[in-house]
Order: sequence, then C-alpha cells, then structure tokens
Amino acid sequence: MKTIDRLLADNKLWSERIQREDPTFFERLSRQQAPEYLWIGCSDSRVPANQIMNMAPGEVFVHRNIANVVVHTDLNCLSVIQYAVDVLKVKHILVVGHYGCGGVLAGLDRMRLGLVDNWIRHVTDVAFKHEAILDAMDSHALRHDRLCELNVLEQVANICKTTVVRDAWERGQELAVHGWVYTLRDGRVHDLGMDVTRPDEFAPQYAAALARIRIDHEDR
Ligand code: CO
Repeated sequence: MKTIDRLLADNKLWSERIQREDPTFFERLSRQQAPEYLWIGCSDSRVPANQIMNMAPGEVFVHRNIANVVVHTDLNCLSVIQYAVDVLKVKHILVVGHYGCGGVLAGLDRMRLGLVDNWIRHVTDVAFKHEAILDAMDSHALRHDRLCELNVLEQVANICKTTVVRDAWERGQELAVHGWVYTLRDGRVHDLGMDVTRPDEFAPQYAAALARIRIDHEDR
C-alpha cells in the first residue's frame, strides 16, 4: 500500500509530466469545465470513470455511490444531475454498473453489514421487482450478474423520471440517458441498449432491454 507521502510525491510527478506534455493544460482547465458526459457509477475502486473511457480531466462529470443507485429523495445525486443538465449542459448521462458489484450482491443476499443496509435496500427492491427473471436463473452467479444489469435499468428509469430530465426534454435540450455494465475481468463495457433521448422512447427501450436480459443468460 502507498504511504501518504508516496501519494503526494506521485501527484507532483503526475503534474510535472502533464505540464511537460501539454504546457497550457492546467491553465486551460482551470478557466472552465465543459464536460459532455455525466457518469453515475459505483464507488468501487476498480471502476474509475476517466480511465475506463480514456478521458482526460475536464471531460466527464462524476457521481459515484455504492451500487450506482439514483434515489428520488437523494439531494446529493439529484443536485449533481441538476447541475450537470441545467448548468454544464451535458449531452449524455451514463449509468454504469459493474458485474461483481458487492453492493448488488449485498442487496441480492439481504446481507447485514450495518447502516449501509438501508442504502442497499434500494437494490433489494429491484430484486423484488424482477423476482421472476432472477428466479429463472440457474445459479447464484447468474442471478448476481442479472441483478447488476436490472439495477442499472431501474436507475436509468429513475433518471428519466426526474423533473430535471423531464424539464430538459420538454424545452428541447439535447440529452440522452444510457445504461452500461462494466466487466471487471476484461475492462469492457456491456451496453444494455438504452439510449433514451425523449420521454416516449423510454418504455419501448426498457421493455426491449428487459427482454434481452431474460434471453441473454442462455448464451453466457
Ligand atoms: Co459496485
């Protein structure tokens, strides 16, 4: 494990390297940020937004919490969405779950871990909602994978229903909501096929994505 001194030394080296490669980088960046993407992902240390999408600082606005959950009463997440959409005018909101998510596993298995159980309960609600799909899986590992996907779909749904996103669409603002699941084993992103750019696109895309999740498990 790195010591704190090591972290600070590494930061100095990184800053010096960037300035060597692009002398005006930090000066440009300090004047404004204009990211086109809002990333809503899991806090898991293995799923860093910028690195996965090969993006430099300034390119993606990020909100992360355990199991990438969007709750209608979570002022933190809602504020991030509102600022990203209304002020930064991002064009894409990416909900990015990941296979092997410990938060999703805790929700699936109703684990008792402490205060966090109350947060994870939102994932358990997703499992209850899609009990029929999960029960049809042959193994616990498959149920875990499918719940990682279903959880992303539900968070895409929650985002599309926020007043912030509905208002943006109503005034004709360009904004798409997507659902992805990242694979820890190979670093690849699995696209759940959600590209919602208008309110009426949500229901058919959600139904199609759910149907794919039901069928796909036979191929994996
Ligand atoms: Co996770």
